[in-house]
Amino acid sequence: MEFRGRMSYGDYLHLEKILNAQSPLSGAHDELLFIIQHQTSELWMKLAIHEIRSASKAIHEDRLQPAFKMLSRVARIFEQLTGAWDVLRTMTPSEYTQFRGSLGQSSGFQSYQYRAIEFLAGNRNDAMLKPHAHRPEVVAELEQILAEPSLYDEALLLLSRQGFDVGADATRTDWRATRTPNDAVLAAWREVYLAPEKHWMLYELAEKLVDFEDYFRRWRFNHVTTVERIIGLKRGTGGTSGVSYLRKMLEVELFPELWKVRTEL
Ligand code: HEM
Repeated sequence: MEFRGRMSYGDYLHLEKILNAQSPLSGAHDELLFIIQHQTSELWMKLAIHEIRSASKAIHEDRLQPAFKMLSRVARIFEQLTGAWDVLRTMTPSEYTQFRGSLGQSSGFQSYQYRAIEFLAGNRNDAMLKPHAHRPEVVAELEQILAEPSLYDEALLLLSRQGFDVGADATRTDWRATRTPNDAVLAAWREVYLAPEKHWMLYELAEKLVDFEDYFRRWRFNHVTTVERIIGLKRGTGGTSGVSYLRKMLEVELFPELWKVRTEL
């Protein structure tokens, strides 16, 4: 029971830092919920980034079993973040309006970890670097991600190494540009799905990726629904049109051929 001079629970977890990192700007009761919801989401995103990076590396090195485990964890993280909206939904428009003015122009739109996840997975839109221009170290980190193959690029390179024709995706060198879906990749995934027993590892990889995107989509959908429930069709604090911008983002596909192949089976 005596921890003087020895590491305790709080020391190991730096709870002093974490539990003192909430500084509501208004006197509104619900602002603490709002802050903690964002901070915990950012912590889970930090873990998701760690897992996606390691999964990409594992695929690059043809170590698929560890990649499967990490991708499963990423999907479970997004499942948990999707559930977290239920807590935020307990905040009504009347309650949010009491402190929305204190946020100024800050918005999840400026979450560099969220952008890192999108870039790492394969949704590369360099216009999204702009909100970070005032923070060169953040831009440098995001640029570094854009300079390397995404998780999906690694999956396609693996298909190619295993003898599948993936068309232009086998010889790409510019990872920064938005990738154009191609029919050769669709045909390759089709072959995998038509004979799972022959291509079991690739089949399992494909399903792990789809599972990740499935839960990522649910997170997006629950975000936009929660946002509409709380602010209706008001513009976002980050400067976009708000709900209509977020609805547009629902159309984004991380692994397009893996969704398209379903129609072909
Ligand atoms: C009352 C709660 C919330 C409201 C009203 C809200 C509203 C919005 C709006 C309107 C946008 C569009 C950008 C803008 O113009 O601001 C946005 C973007 C975003 N929000 Fe939220 N949000 C809420 C909670 C959260 C939470 C808890 C997170 C978790 C980190 C989050 C993460 C994000 C992210 C990552 C984006 C960028 C999405 C993209 O560009 O595709 N938001 N939010």
